[in-house]
Amino acid sequence: MSESLVFAPSAAAIARTRTTAAQYEEMYARSLSDPDGFWKEQSQRIDWIKPPTRIKNTSYTYPDISIKWFEDGVLNISANCVDRHLATRADETAIIWEGDIPGTDDKVTYRQLHERLGRFANVLKANGVKKGDRVTIYMPMIIDTAVAMLACARIGAVHSVIFGGFSPDSIAGRINDCDSKIVLTADEGRRGGKTIPLKKNVDEALLKTPGVERVIVVKNTGNAVAMQAGRDVWYADEAAKVSADCAPEPMNAEDPLFILYTSGSTGKPKGVLHTTGGYIVWASLTHERVFDYQPGEIYWCTADVGWVTGHSYIVYGPLANGATTVMFEGIPSYPDAGRCWQVVEKHKVNIFYTAPTAIRALMGAGADIPDQYPMPSLRLLGSVGEPINPEAWLWYHKHVGKERCEIVDTWWQTETGGILISALPGAIAAKPGSATKPFFGIKPIVLSPEGKLQEQTKAEGVLCIADSWPGQMRTVYGDHARFVSTYFETYKGYYFTGDGCRRDEDGYYWITGRVDDVLNVSGHRIGTAEVESALVAHPKVAEAAVVGYPHDIKGQGIYCYVTLMAGEKGDDALKTELRNWVRKEIGAIASPDLMQFAPGLPKTRSGKIMRRILRKIAENDYGALGDTTTLADPGVVTDLIENRQNR
Ligand code: WT7
Repeated sequence: MSESLVFAPSAAAIARTRTTAAQYEEMYARSLSDPDGFWKEQSQRIDWIKPPTRIKNTSYTYPDISIKWFEDGVLNISANCVDRHLATRADETAIIWEGDIPGTDDKVTYRQLHERLGRFANVLKANGVKKGDRVTIYMPMIIDTAVAMLACARIGAVHSVIFGGFSPDSIAGRINDCDSKIVLTADEGRRGGKTIPLKKNVDEALLKTPGVERVIVVKNTGNAVAMQAGRDVWYADEAAKVSADCAPEPMNAEDPLFILYTSGSTGKPKGVLHTTGGYIVWASLTHERVFDYQPGEIYWCTADVGWVTGHSYIVYGPLANGATTVMFEGIPSYPDAGRCWQVVEKHKVNIFYTAPTAIRALMGAGADIPDQYPMPSLRLLGSVGEPINPEAWLWYHKHVGKERCEIVDTWWQTETGGILISALPGAIAAKPGSATKPFFGIKPIVLSPEGKLQEQTKAEGVLCIADSWPGQMRTVYGDHARFVSTYFETYKGYYFTGDGCRRDEDGYYWITGRVDDVLNVSGHRIGTAEVESALVAHPKVAEAAVVGYPHDIKGQGIYCYVTLMAGEKGDDALKTELRNWVRKEIGAIASPDLMQFAPGLPKTRSGKIMRRILRKIAENDYGALGDTTTLADPGVVTDLIENRQNR
């Protein structure tokens, strides 16, 4: 697909935008030349209890990495997301909820949200939660989940939201890592016509979490669940005992707001820690500019609140901007592939933000489906989570956007808190497949894999960011050394993203995917090391190596090479058993797509697994294996090729 394909901003987008092309250039230049002045001004979009006088205080000098923004400012995020809108838009809709079951929906106004979050905050207090305590949230996509997050922010508790697709073992690991004494959950969730046994999963997880003292359960489906006396309470019973009046806790800008676990190339998931002031400035400013959000518009991000996209662009960013944000409980394919378009028309959605994997899946169902929905309300489309292939971009543009909507391809990460590279509608021309240009304050740099700075505009290599921005993660919870080594050790003086990229002659960035051992499966980040350790925990498995391979819909699929214990037979039954095992250990999102039993894995003479070779075989590209002479036993490669699973 041609790189010369350029979509200039439409006249309509130019006419309405908050940021013209000239303003983008001017603001971008100033954000780099005068960060203190620029961010002091931008911080005024937030209501501070005490406005900050110190703006940027950050160091990327290895190993003394320290990141502080607005450090003497005092604020409360829930007050910024809700209370401050009461004077102007109390009766406007804050959240539209669209249920999994077609025909079920609900909404809350800002006034109602204020009441609900105050009451939830008082329930937390009554159950012993104090400022700084970690609260685990394992809840479905319902309004109460956003309320629960805001209620934590109200009293200064740090939430750790766990995606509903994670298994009891994964929940337990996350609860123990941050030493959370309380878990918020629901009886069950709903997704794609199925119920998700949330409370049951929590019960199983809690067999391994000695620290948890209280479980608060929101009634959702109403089906019976076990309640353990002395530990578990129903939210409704607790809510009946407290008032809805809860004053927001004054928080320092650098007080923690949330922890979100994400996979890396090694070890167990890391607790990415975000703080208060910089995060909310970043989430709200990026939401306003990237989506060119204007009052009264209906905005829908299809993510789950269990991921950072849900945190920044369903809850915090939109609500801080007084937006109407849609929360969708279901999935794009249920009950059929027209669901998203039906919901867009039903709620008159203006801005639609989703992931390439969803677009590709809907594309597979046929263009005639979106073609039946004119969707006149739609103005802007967004993409996030993985590179969008130009074919999917063009399909999205034509059949969903009817060639009249701009598309913003937004590149960012759990670690970045919000969008770092994206077009701004009406200001930056799109090129299908490119995330385009950096946001204010972001100076992307391209290095050769060996770390040499690529100064010419046209370049290819690994993507780093030259300096800190307000929304950046501050540390790995409980393990600052891991934060420093993961992001600042390989390329000293820069933040290392883990992604590869190309910069074209116009200074546009094209993300090429992860350069580390992290897979991106349907926009979900999965560490190969995690899947490997799940596999080797099975009694029949001796050794395992996991790599990615190109997958038409998921972007990447999970390919597992498994060496069995002596005497075990590698057959289809065992494949199924191991697949189920991984689902049980981690969750369905880590389910292996292809599995190959191998008598041995290719290793160097020092015993290191040669992943390069395994990747090539998984990609069915074994003609280009490269140098295999350093292998301890070149013979294993012949067997691996012979029995490859992806043909
Ligand atoms: C990784 C971060 C961003 C929130 C959801 C995922 C990939 C993300 C794009 C994009 C190409 C993208 C990167 C990144 N990625 N957005 N627009 N184009 N790649 O957050 O789970 O922390 O994953 O997703 O590889 O490093 P995450």
